[in-house]
Amino acid sequence: MHNLNAWCSSEIESLKARSLFHLPKVHFGPAGARTVVNGKKVIQLSNNSYLGLSTHPKVVEAARKAIEKYGVGSGAVRPISGTMDLHNECEERLARFKKTESCLLFQSGFTANVGVVSTLAVEGDHIISDELNHASIIDGCRLSKASRAVYRHKDYGHLRELLREARGPKSIKGKILVVTDGVFSMDGDVADLKACADACDEFDAITMVDDAHATGVLGAQGRGTVDEQHVHERWSLTVGTLSKAIPVVGGYFAGPRVVKEYLIAKARPFLFSCSAPPPVVAAVIACIDVMETEPQHLKKLWDNTKFFKDGLKKLGFNTGDSTTPVTPVIVGQGAKAAKFSDILFNNGVFAQGIYFPMVAEEKSRVRTIVSAAHSREDLQEALDVFKKCGKELGLI
Ligand SMILES: Cc1ncc(COP(=O)(O)O)c(C=O)c1O
Repeated sequence: MHNLNAWCSSEIESLKARSLFHLPKVHFGPAGARTVVNGKKVIQLSNNSYLGLSTHPKVVEAARKAIEKYGVGSGAVRPISGTMDLHNECEERLARFKKTESCLLFQSGFTANVGVVSTLAVEGDHIISDELNHASIIDGCRLSKASRAVYRHKDYGHLRELLREARGPKSIKGKILVVTDGVFSMDGDVADLKACADACDEFDAITMVDDAHATGVLGAQGRGTVDEQHVHERWSLTVGTLSKAIPVVGGYFAGPRVVKEYLIAKARPFLFSCSAPPPVVAAVIACIDVMETEPQHLKKLWDNTKFFKDGLKKLGFNTGDSTTPVTPVIVGQGAKAAKFSDILFNNGVFAQGIYFPMVAEEKSRVRTIVSAAHSREDLQEALDVFKKCGKELGLI
């Protein structure tokens, strides 16, 4: 028998030697501002529940009622017998929220990206992707039979060059799909969708944005980057997640109805993986209700973002180009980021270290994410801990 265990052990040892092996910390309570992690009380700065909705009474109640009515799972993939009226209602609500013609649910943002990119870009087509796009977009490109190219991060001049090359010397006669994150998950900076659409229009390319970190955060009532930048009329496709500001689980495509119908016929995650459980779908619908009727969460998120980001900058940390609630504190090497994250944790702040392969080794960081659930006291206390630990490590 092949000694797979020995191979895994030696790979793990090599990761450990480079401080690249980390088991996930365990949480003993809801995703809130303060939580218990590995038995220790900490201020939480690593959660994507931007609006603090995971314990919102209306959301919890909707999930409870859905379990009573439908049970805990659909028991089938969507095209066989896994489509309930709740799934259709959720798709209609999300489409209205995103101001698109239609929406299609997937099991996660990851499978939505993989499914949409690999299904729509086929042999003879070409995909052009921002170099800092999420792993699920990269995997969608890998699964697609289309050729591909990568443009330098948010460099729309470079995107134009690649488009020109594709339509010229490369003679791409098929579709060209240009894909970008809306908010980049590790840096918290925002794509310029207008500049991207300008370049795409010139070369007859299709635009796609992954709005995972923008939905619930940017635009009116949190409708996302397309709304924030007023490009609804110029934008083709959106993919999103239901695991961040809508803090449940799942993903979705939002765009033209005919594209949705094609995905229903062809997208493999839709065809071959079970549909979302009823309490999940009901909770998502309730989150949309809350986002549309309770603007105070979005306002508090941005007040908190400004306070915390300004605080980190004043302390002298390198916070990169972030303009959103995702604020990196860039420290350099992975080992240093791991150490920083550890000493922050020991002092009562949970800010996850982010290292290769999530970011380039020299851009290793701890990533902070504030939410509407944090109070000023939580954030001030976190800043005090950052100051103490940053000095200890010689970062400031
Ligand atoms: C930009 C981006 N896209 C997609 C995903 C995947 O979303 P999900 O957690 O729903 O699979 C993430 C999750 O981290 C993300 O940050």
